[in-house]
Amino acid sequence: MKTTISQADWSARAAEVLPGAGFGNFDPSLIVREGKGSRVWDEDGKEYIDYLIGSGPMILGHGHPEVVEAVQEQLGKGMTFFANSAAGIELAEVLVDAMACADQVRYVSTGGEADMYAMRLARAFTGKDRVLKFEGGYHGMSGEALMSLAPKSLINFPQAVPDSAGIPDSVRDGMLIAPFNDSDFVTSLVEEYAHEIACIIVEPLQRLVPPALGFLRTLRDLATKHGIVLIFDEVVTGFRFAYGGAQEYYGVTPDLCTLGKVIGGGFPLAAVAGKAEIMAHFDKSKVGEKGFTFQIGTLSGNPVASVAGLKTLEILRRPGAYQMLKDTGERLMQSYATHLGAAGVAHQIVGEPMLFDVVFTEQPVRDYRGTLKNNAAHANAVNASLRQSGILKPDSKLYAHLALTEEDLQQTDAAIAKAAAQL
Ligand SMILES: Cc1ncc(COP(=O)(O)O)c(C=O)c1O
Repeated sequence: MKTTISQADWSARAAEVLPGAGFGNFDPSLIVREGKGSRVWDEDGKEYIDYLIGSGPMILGHGHPEVVEAVQEQLGKGMTFFANSAAGIELAEVLVDAMACADQVRYVSTGGEADMYAMRLARAFTGKDRVLKFEGGYHGMSGEALMSLAPKSLINFPQAVPDSAGIPDSVRDGMLIAPFNDSDFVTSLVEEYAHEIACIIVEPLQRLVPPALGFLRTLRDLATKHGIVLIFDEVVTGFRFAYGGAQEYYGVTPDLCTLGKVIGGGFPLAAVAGKAEIMAHFDKSKVGEKGFTFQIGTLSGNPVASVAGLKTLEILRRPGAYQMLKDTGERLMQSYATHLGAAGVAHQIVGEPMLFDVVFTEQPVRDYRGTLKNNAAHANAVNASLRQSGILKPDSKLYAHLALTEEDLQQTDAAIAKAAAQL
């Protein structure tokens, strides 16, 4: 494929007008021109098998014809209204049907907003202020979410460490931080601070790390016992681990969940979903002025995003979709295990088949501090080699998806074999 402006030239232009020469998300030297199915092409015409999939939304691959058709039809009818639309109402019905915790849904545009409002809603519902989050857990970019997301200094729990400049100390002081997967620690922390804790927010699979047996159940029981709202951040796991998300996959139902990525079919759409008595705090007529959580947004429930989401979820409901996703992920995991094993490189494959990566360490990874044991030189070398071989993946993740073909998997296997041998 021919291009007229090279990636290097685009990068130079980007450096003038974008801080850090990019959108802040991904290696700014990569400038993607196009995606189709399982593949993307950069502005120099280099082709990649895509395991980044837009950081998760493109679970069907790029430009799925049925999604494109649904979107095109909607585009002819209008792009955004601010008012309710039938597509947004229908999508809310589908989300409520799918997620065990959900009686109702409130739309926003990004997963990070959904998390921010979920925490605020929990404060409104409980009349308590503090948020318990886990070290290394990612919940978007609010002040609370940026506490102990990726702390460089490992101070004592439960103290929070801000990951960004510009957040007042008062936010830090409103947080309690615990190690993921440590049921004993969380139990004693909650018992000490129960009267102050509004919510426990958790990624059911934290970044890559699966919950230890019984951990999510412990959180559920603690939250129930102490009148705390349990929030599952399902922005990544929703409609990916199972149609009913991680709450179905791991068999534990939270009070609220947040959804994003897949539900917008590649367009900006996210949601807070949960129990009616908590969601009632978005409705002044139900809770009055004092308990009301004020929430509006220009693009909330956008009809183009809603039809893209509706079609995506319809395709995911077809028989065999989740089995195929799991089988594909298992094959990719097996490729890593085989080739890194043959190369004699210490590693752990961490995650679930739908979302995983390799951590180069001898020890099992149970939490954020475990991920810090990763041999960064190995990880960088493997990722760089894969990129060179035409495999595009996030630095510390790999998403399985439904557009991958047999040829893609074979090509990926060969690329992993090469990267492992180079170590
Ligand atoms: C678990 C989790 N929560 C929240 C977010 C934030 O979503 P968004 O980027 O749409 O704000 C992400 C994004 O990757 C995520 O992985």
